[in-house]
Amino acid sequence: MCGIVGYVGPRNSINIIVSGLHRLEYRGYDSAGIALCLKNNEKLVLVKTPGKISDLETAISKALPVKDNRTFTLGIGHTRWATHGVPNQVNAHPHLSRSGEFAIVHNGIIENYADLKSRLIKQGYTFKSDTDSEVIAHLIEQCYEGNLKGAVAATMERLEGTYGIAVISSKHPDTIVAARKGSPIAVGICDGETIIASDISAIINYTKQVIFLNDGDIITATASNIDISSVKNIPVSREMTHIDWDIRDIEKGGYEHFMLKEIHEQPLTIANAIRGRLMEAEGTAKLSGMQMDPREMARIDRIAIAACGTSYHAGMVGKYYFEDIAGMSSEIQQAAEFRDRNPIIQRDTCLVAISQSGETADTLAAVREAHQKGATVLGICNVVGSTIAREAGCGVYLHAGPEIGVASTKAFTSQVSVLAMLAIAFARTRRLSVNAGREMIHQLSVMPKIAEQVIAQESIIIKIAEKYAGSRDFFYIGRGYMYPAALEGALKLKEISYIHAEGYHASELKHGPIALLEKNVPVVALVPNVPAKIKTMGNIQECKARNAPVIAIATEGDNDVRSLCDDVIFIPPCDEFLTPIPVTIAEQLLAYHIARIRGCPIDQPRNLAKSVTVE
Ligand code: AGP
Ligand code: GLU
Repeated sequence: MCGIVGYVGPRNSINIIVSGLHRLEYRGYDSAGIALCLKNNEKLVLVKTPGKISDLETAISKALPVKDNRTFTLGIGHTRWATHGVPNQVNAHPHLSRSGEFAIVHNGIIENYADLKSRLIKQGYTFKSDTDSEVIAHLIEQCYEGNLKGAVAATMERLEGTYGIAVISSKHPDTIVAARKGSPIAVGICDGETIIASDISAIINYTKQVIFLNDGDIITATASNIDISSVKNIPVSREMTHIDWDIRDIEKGGYEHFMLKEIHEQPLTIANAIRGRLMEAEGTAKLSGMQMDPREMARIDRIAIAACGTSYHAGMVGKYYFEDIAGMSSEIQQAAEFRDRNPIIQRDTCLVAISQSGETADTLAAVREAHQKGATVLGICNVVGSTIAREAGCGVYLHAGPEIGVASTKAFTSQVSVLAMLAIAFARTRRLSVNAGREMIHQLSVMPKIAEQVIAQESIIIKIAEKYAGSRDFFYIGRGYMYPAALEGALKLKEISYIHAEGYHASELKHGPIALLEKNVPVVALVPNVPAKIKTMGNIQECKARNAPVIAIATEGDNDVRSLCDDVIFIPPCDEFLTPIPVTIAEQLLAYHIARIRGCPIDQPRNLAKSVTVE
């Protein structure tokens, strides 16, 4: 995800900012930039580029050749993970105000940027970029009346969404102003200089004395002084924190692997997926990227879904949603099959192409084939500006931040969240009532909390992982929504622990695979408290009768399951249609800890790539 570094002090800020941005590279990004200010109040220098920090360094050396021995004592830098506007030079941060006297960098999403932008355009402002962030630069200039913090505070009052920002101005060559709401900002207090960053990994080389801003805080920093207040200019005091982490830890946010970090991020990433999209009063969801109004949605009479791997499993959940919630005919195929089998596409078919990376070749081929046959195509992607997102033409972004671990985790739960919103939106153009829609939207809104509660079971899951890490074969079984969850659990285990694992519909076990069950073949049975549970309990009995140990994932308090199974992972109660989210998070933790105990290279499993760009 994005990164911010700012410096004010006696030294040349370029190297401090660029090395700080290097520290943030692990977060993933697509472009980078820096804005610099000279002590004697000259025009701001702006250098930015798509690509890597190394590309930025090349651009800086061209813009500021070695003979240019000016000392830029003030500067801000950014690594962008695009959400609005493709990753290119113009959309990279920092963004300048109209006069060029103010420069800003922004992490997050300004939900109301479109309204702000159209208003600024009517007031004569012109925009260079397609980003949401650029509105901040122009608003600060518009609100400026001689006081930089006051201008930033007035601007913050008008923004909706999430931000972590840093601002510099050639009018104040000794000051950085930074603010946060939902996107972290930390301040490194050094002797005679100040460093501001979105992540302490960019600060910790200079000081371990750090102040973390709270939401709504604004900090005004010079080399020797800091002042923190609320946007209402009420002074606030924030305690100094002594950081005792080592830099190597921080690059994974203190986690041993990116995969574990991304599993733990899911309360936030599910919140990001639904943020600003739930319309509880209307009992529906607003997915502006669909570019379809209710009338156009009502005309779609069939949903085809194409995806691969984990995204395919999310698509299976989506198929059930479109049928159960929206009453629509829907089918899912592996993307390669979709393309190779000459799919039946009618004028009112909508292809939903699901891809975290947005670059999977098979899924891209399915998108192109669907377009060829005149279908409407919706892309559900995580990477903004990715090929599938662009070629689909319209769709919904996950806003989950870069998923670095090869095994997909947070993308799955965000995909399921987006598919639920999509199905509810389609359903509300059909037979779903406003009250029923409200209830489903409310159930979805509490999913971040549910995810937190599952992650809190980690110590119990670790004990279960220790018990079964030596197994050579696993089965995962489930019915209904738990069938795709069973397939996903098996995929997670096999791709990071190299244990052979098969996901099966619980009813299918007795039609052959049960021949493989014995005491060394654990079965993970997905039995949350849903109508199909009773039948799956019968399948558990069949497994027990063959001496296979059974690990159940069940709804907390279910003593029937506890008494029947060898081990149980309990999840909080939730509506049946959302059970894939908590169940899959439990499966992710089980797979992760089994792989960790087995000493596997979890973030980079053998033979696997994060994005399969070959057919
Ligand atoms: C899942 O853990 C794997 N990394 C893989 O199956 C992945 O889901 C698949 O390659 C699809 O990737 P995409 O979502 O980026 O299209
Ligand atoms: N929403 C902003 C953009 O797309 C910032 C993205 C980020 O957090 O890097 O430019």
